[in-house]
Parts: sequence; structure tokens; C-alpha cells
Amino acid sequence: MSNTIAIIDFGSQYSQLIARRIREANVYCELFPWDTPAEEVLAIQPKGFILSGGPASVYEPGSPRIHPYVFESRLPVLGICYGMQVLTHQLGGTVSISAEREYGAAQLESIAPNPILPLGTQHVWMSHGDRIESPPPGFTILGRSDNSPIAAMGDLSRGYFGLQFHPEVKHTPGGTQILSSFVIDVCQVEPTWTPESIITKNITRIQQQVGQDPVISAVSGGVDSSVATALVHKAVGDQLIPVFVDTGLLRQGEVRHVQRAMQRELGLELILVDAKDQFYKALDGVVDPEQKRRLIGELFIRTFEEQARRLGSPRFLVQGTIYPDVVESSAPDRAQASSIKTHHNVGGLPPDMKFELVEPLRYLFKDEVRAVGKELGLSDEIVWRQPFPGPGLAIRCLGEVTPTRLNRLRAADAILTNELDAAGLLHTSHGAEQIHGSAQAFAVLLPVRTVGVMGDQRTYQEVIALRAVTSDDFMTADWARLPYQLLANISNRIVNEVEGINRVVYDITSKPPATIEWE
Ligand code: XMP
Repeated sequence: MSNTIAIIDFGSQYSQLIARRIREANVYCELFPWDTPAEEVLAIQPKGFILSGGPASVYEPGSPRIHPYVFESRLPVLGICYGMQVLTHQLGGTVSISAEREYGAAQLESIAPNPILPLGTQHVWMSHGDRIESPPPGFTILGRSDNSPIAAMGDLSRGYFGLQFHPEVKHTPGGTQILSSFVIDVCQVEPTWTPESIITKNITRIQQQVGQDPVISAVSGGVDSSVATALVHKAVGDQLIPVFVDTGLLRQGEVRHVQRAMQRELGLELILVDAKDQFYKALDGVVDPEQKRRLIGELFIRTFEEQARRLGSPRFLVQGTIYPDVVESSAPDRAQASSIKTHHNVGGLPPDMKFELVEPLRYLFKDEVRAVGKELGLSDEIVWRQPFPGPGLAIRCLGEVTPTRLNRLRAADAILTNELDAAGLLHTSHGAEQIHGSAQAFAVLLPVRTVGVMGDQRTYQEVIALRAVTSDDFMTADWARLPYQLLANISNRIVNEVEGINRVVYDITSKPPATIEWE
């Protein structure tokens, strides 16, 4: 591989964003924790390095350093925030420790012609403590802001640059252009990373990996498993065995819908496994959220294993792991795997399973997965599908999970979805542009009964909570400001059409402090 950029990760919360911006410029890049051995980084044949920010200070004992191979390569280097400070420190400039952080918007004024920053002023986003006192020999000051006299610096002859601000965040509107100029103009990378090239490369890789052997895939209808399955299908055709487990915890019409979509769009006949009864039996009497999650995860694996045995124990398993999962599990200094919820992903790897994994999305971000899906012929309905948790409706059916309560929940959820769809607010998860739309919307059945009146009759029935959020990445979210009239229609329809529900409430909590799902 060539035409790539290596991002050396010093532990910033924004490191993944740097990678996303570079990929948006159609350039392949990978993130490497700062202490990754040289051979591993150089294996992607980078044409330049970007050093991310990070929480450390260069004067802290044991703080991260730039390894010699970066300088020995003679390739261009762009240091961002801590990356700039450590570059300065190691090349003979001075970094001053500051007790105060500069955080927020600033005006950057470019003061010398250079290939990455246009002359003039632009808004940038600052978030740093330490600052540059004097640049290393050979560097000139390229930009300043009110609080940072050295907000940008560069040694044009070596292609070394340092930025005190964060070009990777949306609050630096010109940031994508800055990163793209560094990568394309300074590093001279050709922007060849496109959905078509991703598909072509993957097909070859998958064919080489699996040869003539059969490959099994757990399809859930979610974006990742659908696109992974589609890619592998394109690569190996009939060697693929796509299995769809009906846990009885799916949304209204979902089984049929996914089955048809896969057939129509990919010519794939899913092997449907009806495991509803086993799941209902396992969940009988269980109300604890974590216990539900664990039980479902385990049962899913057992069911899938049984099918795999029945289907001749194929050697390979398709897994829809995407790049953020890979990065999170190897990132330096970031809190790992916080145990707020035990996530269960359909098709998730059980530790004792004997499959070899085929992971065609392992190096892709979600937007790239979607672009590849579109290119492979999957419809918007699949590609822009809302995230749906592996444990399914069980964690939206608070309290006991019974077929009756699930049906109630399914009916209410379908009304919410239909009304949002009719209002054009359903598939609007296109990040920041959404204003009233919802990145994710669903109904939750609460384990309480309240008093109501219907006709002249007292009712004592269950409550549906509606949850609709806007979010870029589902790590944080805000409740969607859905129009009142729409909420009124949804509420009326649910109370009138769904047996056993006499009250509807709307969840107006953001994440944090709440989470998106209720369990
Ligand atoms: P929370 O509730 O943690 O959800 O704010 C964040 C996003 O993750 C989805 N979610 C899951 N996805 N398996 C999944 O594949 C799970 O166990 C799971 N739990 C939550 C949730 O729907 C939201 O999009």
C-alpha cells in the first residue's frame, strides 16, 4: 500500500476525527498509538505523518515522544496541539507550561505564505494548556491568535508544520482544507481512496483469504452486517451462507423487510432461523437490564453455533467490525470499555468460537461503510438505517419481556416510525445538518401503569415513552425538538390504536446525563 498517511495518536479525544477528515479527502490513513513499533507504522508506506493532540505535557516524566523513525523517514510532519508541542520540544524549541487552558473559538491570522494556511484570518478551535515559547531552529511563525502568539509554525524546507489549534473539529470551518492541503500538496498523496477502490481492494483480499471455503455471516439488517455481507457476497458469491436469527425481539415487519431487501438488492436468500420461543423462554421473569443483555448475547451465540454446525461448520465468519471499534480497543490513555452497558452486537465474536474472521470493514468509518453500501447497490433504507441494539426490543421493554408486552411496544414503535417517516424526519441522520430530524427514534414500554379515562371508563394501563435524539456519533446526543403537532398525532394514534396503553410521554433528556436507550 502507498498513498497513505500515518496518524500518530497521543491520546486526544479528537484523534479519530483527524482520520475521518483525511479519509474525506479520499486519502487512506491509519491511527497508531504513539508507541507502536516503527515496522508496523512503516508497513503502510506513509507519505507523511500527522501527530495528534493529547492530554500530556512535554515536561511530565514519561510523557509520549515522537520516535526517531518519523524524523529519519524525511517525510513531512504535521503536529497538532500536543503534537506541535512535542515536535517543538524534540527539535530544540521551547514549550512553556501554562496553568491556564485556552479553550474555545479564536481568530487565527496567517502571517506568512505557506502551503497549508491561506493568508488572512479564519475561525479556529483552541483547546490547550502549554504553548510554544520559541519555535525550533529552521521554523518560522505562520499564524497567531490573541492568546497564542505562535498558533501556527512551519519549516517549509522539511515540510514540518505545527498547529496549536484543532483543524479536525467542525468548529474550525477551514480545518478540512488545511488537512487536505497538508496531505495532498505537501505530502503529495494521490486521493485514490474512493468507495470503488475500497470495494476492489477488499474483493481481492477476501478472495485471497477464504479461497474456496464456505463463509457464514450473521445478518441483522443493521448497516454494518449488511454491507459486510454484501461485500463478501460480491467477492465469493455462493460460498457465502447468510444466516438471519429471528430472536422475536425485532421491530414490526423487520424480518420480512430485511429478507426482501437482501433478496431484491443483492440476490441473497437468507437462511431464516426462528428462535423466538427460546429467547422468550430465556427472558421469562428477567427484569434486570444487564441480565437481559447477557442472556440474549449468550443465547444468540448458542443459536448461531448450532446453525453453523447444522450448515457443515464453515471455516470463516463474516464480522462487521468497523474502524472505530478497532481504534477504541487500542487507543492510548483513553478510558477503555467503560462498563456502562454490556454491548452486544449481532454477530459479535464469542471468545471460544473456532471461526476465522473475515472483517471487510475493519478499516472503515461509518460514513465510508455507507458509501460502500450505496456503491454495492444497497438502498437508502438499509444504508441509512437507524442503529438498533443487539439485544433488540428486550431493552426497550422495561420490566418483564413477554410476547404481549413486546407486541404492544412493536405497535407503538411502528406508529412513531410511520409518523416520522411521513413527516420526512426519519432518515435524516446526516449529522450536523439535522435540525428537527432524528438520528434515532423509538418507543419504550415502561413498567408502570397509570390511571386514565377512556369514554366514561377508568383505565389502568401501561405507558409508552417516545425517545428521539439528534446525534453525530451516538456518544453524545440531544433530544430532538420534534414539532408539537407531530408529537400530538403520534400520542393520539398510540393511545387509540395500541391495546393496553393509555399514556404517552416524551423523553427530554440529553446524553449525558441519560443514555439513548433506557436500559
Ligand atoms: P446508549 O444507550 O449507550 O446507546 O446511549 C448508544 C448507541 O448504541 C446503541 N446500542 C447498542 N448497539 N448493541 C448495539 O449494537 C448494544 O448492545 C447496544 N446498546 C445500545 C444505541 O441504540 C445507540 O444508538
